[in-house]
Amino acid sequence: MNCTILAIESSCDETSAAVIQNGIILSNIIATQAVHEQYGGVVPELASRAHMQNVVPVIQNALTKANIKKNDLNAVAFTQGPGLLGALVVGVSFAKSLALGLGIPLIGVNHMQAHILAHFIDEPRPDFPFLCLTVSGGHTQIVVVKNHLEMEVIGHTQDDAVGEAFDKTAKLLGLSYPGGPQLDKAAVGGDYTKYIFPSVDTPGLNYSFSGIKTAFMYFLRDHTSKKPDFIAQNLNDICASIQASIVEILLKKLRKASKDTGIKQIAIAGGVSANSWLRSKLEEDAAQYRWTVYVPAFEYCTDNAAMIAMAAHFKYINNEFVTLQAGPIPRLAL
Ligand code: KG4
Ligand code: ZN
Repeated sequence: MNCTILAIESSCDETSAAVIQNGIILSNIIATQAVHEQYGGVVPELASRAHMQNVVPVIQNALTKANIKKNDLNAVAFTQGPGLLGALVVGVSFAKSLALGLGIPLIGVNHMQAHILAHFIDEPRPDFPFLCLTVSGGHTQIVVVKNHLEMEVIGHTQDDAVGEAFDKTAKLLGLSYPGGPQLDKAAVGGDYTKYIFPSVDTPGLNYSFSGIKTAFMYFLRDHTSKKPDFIAQNLNDICASIQASIVEILLKKLRKASKDTGIKQIAIAGGVSANSWLRSKLEEDAAQYRWTVYVPAFEYCTDNAAMIAMAAHFKYINNEFVTLQAGPIPRLAL
């Protein structure tokens, strides 16, 4: 069976297109939207407008780089959700028009499932079942991955996502958007034991990040009211401390999930899986608890269409298509 799929990702602030052929990624083009930087966060309407501008050149680039003509395609895939409504609409509409024009099937992909399936782009690929800590700007989940398309969420955040916690704390420190990667960089070599931030105890495998965010806000207010240059003088240690506290919240529940389920194959996925402290602490836990850990390549951590293409490949094999009536589903569950 020959299977060549074009995949489009437009759920948030990256416009991306990828081509996959028989499970091998041939191209993965990403246009990051710089327009949001000046606002310190993603502005939904500006995201939609930027997707409108980027979608055609990004797709043309992806096809050219893959050396694939439109007529060679067997299917078109798009991110159906979760994501911003107006952003999703751009990718969905383009994919539908192309599928209609070429007379080929259409595949709707769950963005969070795709983050997990990014682990199947390259070796080493996890064995089933495995646990995936899925950490992004909008989600924080512990997922039991039973096979390529069957997944069960066993823990989730009750309030903010961990990416939001990183971005909001970074913003309070005056770091530029997107805050997560800036905070990660500013933390390098800092004393992560210098400041302690309390975390809220949550039931079972669920998470909460609103408490630590508020505690951090009061911590900065108290210190800067006494010493206005407190942040500038201690940025390195503050970043290392808050980062270590947030990562410990993530890993505490992941350890419990592994103990409860007996699963020792552990993966991380989503934008926050690029975090260097999370990666190094996960390796330490792997040694201590005899886990086999899977960390995606940096290029497949944050939003990209290669992961959408990988998910589409498995859906194509499984004959899972959507009709031309399909629309975006901003709150699509896993
Ligand atoms: O998966 P993603 O690209 O988009 C969503 O689906 O949300 O995740 C974006 C999130 C942002 O909150 C960003 O700050 C965070 O991932 N992020 C990081 C790092 N790189 C990206 N957070 C902490 N450390 C990083 N190195
Ligand atoms: Zn994402």
